Order: sequence, then structure tokens, then C-alpha cells
Amino acid sequence: MSSIDKVLSRIDTNFDASLGRLFELLKIKSISTDPAFAGPCKDAAAWLAAELNAIGIEASVRETTGHPMVVGHRKSGKPGPHVLFYGHYDVQPVDPLELWENDPFEPSIKTREDGSKVIMARGSSDDKGQLMTFVEAARAYIEETGDLPVDVTILFEGEEESGSPSLQPFLEANKDELSCDMALVCDTGMWDAETPAIGVMLRGMVGDEIVVKAASRDLHSGLYGGSAQNPNHIVAGIIAGLHDENGKVTLPGFYDGVIELPEDVSTMWDNLGFSVEDFLGDVGLKYPRGEKDRKPLEHLWSRPTVEVNGMWGGYQGAGSKTVIPAKAHAKFTFRLVGDQDPDKIQQAFRAYVRSKVPADCSVEFTAKEGSPALRLDLHMPALEKGEIALKKEWGKEAALVGMGGSIPIVGDFKRFLGMDTLLIGYGLEDDQIHSPNEKYNLTSFHKGTRSWARVLDELSKS
Ligand code: BES
Ligand code: MN
Ligand code: MN
Repeated sequence: MSSIDKVLSRIDTNFDASLGRLFELLKIKSISTDPAFAGPCKDAAAWLAAELNAIGIEASVRETTGHPMVVGHRKSGKPGPHVLFYGHYDVQPVDPLELWENDPFEPSIKTREDGSKVIMARGSSDDKGQLMTFVEAARAYIEETGDLPVDVTILFEGEEESGSPSLQPFLEANKDELSCDMALVCDTGMWDAETPAIGVMLRGMVGDEIVVKAASRDLHSGLYGGSAQNPNHIVAGIIAGLHDENGKVTLPGFYDGVIELPEDVSTMWDNLGFSVEDFLGDVGLKYPRGEKDRKPLEHLWSRPTVEVNGMWGGYQGAGSKTVIPAKAHAKFTFRLVGDQDPDKIQQAFRAYVRSKVPADCSVEFTAKEGSPALRLDLHMPALEKGEIALKKEWGKEAALVGMGGSIPIVGDFKRFLGMDTLLIGYGLEDDQIHSPNEKYNLTSFHKGTRSWARVLDELSKS
């Protein structure tokens, strides 16, 4: 048997033990956005560092001003590329808790009607299950052959779900230690349950939050109504004015830097057989919104958007209260593509909002760090190796896809460390990431682990 076959069969034999280790990690409540869970975030980092050390990847927990990073190395001076593997151990909050069928931090295996098995827990798919596919592949490799086939550095982050505030300073401060020939990131999805995917486009993101203030206190809506400004109406007007009747975003300069899809990518996506009816049907909807002159996959992958993530103001309690509130709030995120500049978009947004706020009212903004979109070089040699590895494991050609979500670090790898990234992940559309009842298919975990072993093997070939 060749050594990769031995590694693969070791992964199969030890699958239950791998699953047990993933369950241990899933039990740690590493919710990064909520300061109350800083302790568990530390625990998750410590658990991962111990796990890496146990398999022979020399690792340590690195403090930051936020949640810690975990950095590990195993360098044997192998001739192939030196790769950096990235994943995040933090998870999203679990609310609304009442919609979970099980405790989000008590992982369990559920058999579904079609016989398929899934791991239910917060973080099972985003991103603990995914990062453990790599750890378990590395474990099997080292245990079976005594070493990894290429030199590996590992970076686990605990702030991905809260915008990675410590990441840029950390990359800059540890540039030499973290600079490798390329990065591998396991935080994305497959095309469908049988078809693997490699991400070739990733949308960027920039966010903003506004508070519009009018009168110095809440007012009686009969005594003042018709004369005093109502901040709810102002915010509603701001939101309504962001799109025109064709679904285009109206901010001046918004489409600067947006790039038309190259012919070959467009054809590739046309051939994926995407059904927007099925996609929306799964979540109880039917008709795509968005720019009228664009195809459904463009809406999701290659066109920029703005979404209102939250809006509130005025009386929210039971019954009615005749009031004009003193202030109103809204949270926005823009998804960016091509060469759109996050700072410029934020400035254009703020200028637009200010222009909509009457002279006797005010607006305050809360900035969020933005990250530009990313395009992969379709000719990078590692892409082909990734495709070969995935084809061997899944028996099907990998789809080269866009990704609607954002992983800011991938752009930072390029800008700060000069590295390209191979984006391979095994999540599925129905994993319910960020939602109640998050799951990860057992096949994603098992074949995902096998896939990483194969990717490492292919990368080691000259
Ligand atoms: N893993 C996701 C992003 C993702 C999911 C990319 C599926 C491609 C396919 C990541 O953890 C995430 O949720 N990112 C956030 C950005 C962050 C700054 C909060 C997002 O996209 O909203
Ligand atoms: Mn993620
Ligand atoms: Mn996420």
C-alpha cells in the first residue's frame, strides 16, 4: 500500500476517536462576540494547543488584546511548499435558544429521514468541525508515516465571528513566523453533498451602524405629530432610498471597481445547474430579489449588496403607545466584490445618510473595519493540485465557485504576508450556520479529513 492509502485507512479506522475529539471541542462555549464567554474562548485555544502538541505539532497559545490565537509548527525541511492552515475556533451566539432541538453545546449525532447522519452543535460546521478535519488528517499522517508530507504552520483564531480585531496587528507582529508559501483555509462549503468545491471569489464586507436623533425626548405623537421630526421615518427613508426600482444600489460611486465576470467563469457557473427556485424554496421563498439584469449566482457571488441587519426605534412593547421616539437605529453591511474600496463605500454611505438627516436632527455612526473582496488566480499551481486531490476523494470534479460570505483574513494573508489561499471546505447549504440547529454532515467530517490528507499528499509532489 502506498503511504497515502495507509493514511486514509488509518483515518477510517480511527474515525470514532476523531469524532470524540471534535465533540470535546464542540462542548466549549467559545462565543467570541459576548465578553461573558472570554473564559471558554481561552479554554478552546488551550484545548487546541494541547491537541496539536499531542500529535507532534509544536504549538502555543498567543495572547492578544482580544481572544488568543493558537500557532503551531511542524517543519522537517520538506521540499514541497510550506503551507499555513487557518481555521477559527470561535462560534456565533446561540440565540434564539428556544428554537434549538438540543443543547447547542451538547453535541449529538442525529440520523435524518434519508438515513444520513449529522453532528448537531453550535460550531459543528462553522468552524470547529471544519478545522478539525485538518487536525485529524495531520494526526493520521504523522501517526502513520512519522511526519507530514509538507511543512505546516497552523493558525487558529478566536475572533473571526466578531470581525477579527486582533488579526492584522498579530499578522504584522509575527510576519516572519507566519509567512509561508501559501495558505489553506477550511471555512467554506461544498457545491452540494456530492460535489466538492474550491472558492475562487470571496466577497468582502464593510459595515456601519447609525443612530438618528431628533427631539430631546420621546414626544406625544398627537401633540407634536405633524410638526416634529420622527427619526423612525428618517431611518426608513434612508433605507428605502438605498436601492432603485431595478435593484441597484444608489450610492454615488458604489459600483466603482466592480468587475464583470470573466467569460470562462461565467460559463463555468452557468454549467453548475443552479436552481434559484430550489435554493430559495429551502428557506420558504420563491423569487430572487436583487439587480434585475443579473443572474441568480451573480446576485450571490459576484455582485455587491447592502443589507439592513437590524433596525429599531420607538415603542416595541405590547399594545400601542402614541409616541414619536427621540431616536432610531439601524445596522448595515455591504458585501463587496472586485476592487471596491471599503473605505470609499463607507464614506459614500455616510455622506448619503447625512444628506437625508434634517438640519435640526443629528446622526452618529459606529464604524467597523472593512475588508475588500478577493479573487483567486485561476492559474495558481496549487489550485490544480487541490482539484486533483478532491477528484480522487469525491469521484467528481470540484466546482470552482464564488462565495457570498466573507473571510477577512484571506485578504490579509495576501496583503500582509503575500500569500495566496486555497479555499476548500465541506460545509453544506443546509448546515444552518449562524442559525439554530447548526449541523455538519458526518460525511463532511469524514471525507473532509480524507480530502486534506490527499491535498497534503498532492502538494508534496513536485
Ligand atoms: N465561514 C463563514 C463565511 C463563509 C461561509 C464563507 C460559507 C463562505 C461560505 C464565516 O465564519 C463568517 O460567518 N463570516 C462573516 C464575516 C464576519 C466578519 C462576521 C460573514 O460572512 O458574515
Ligand atoms: Mn467561519
Ligand atoms: Mn461564521
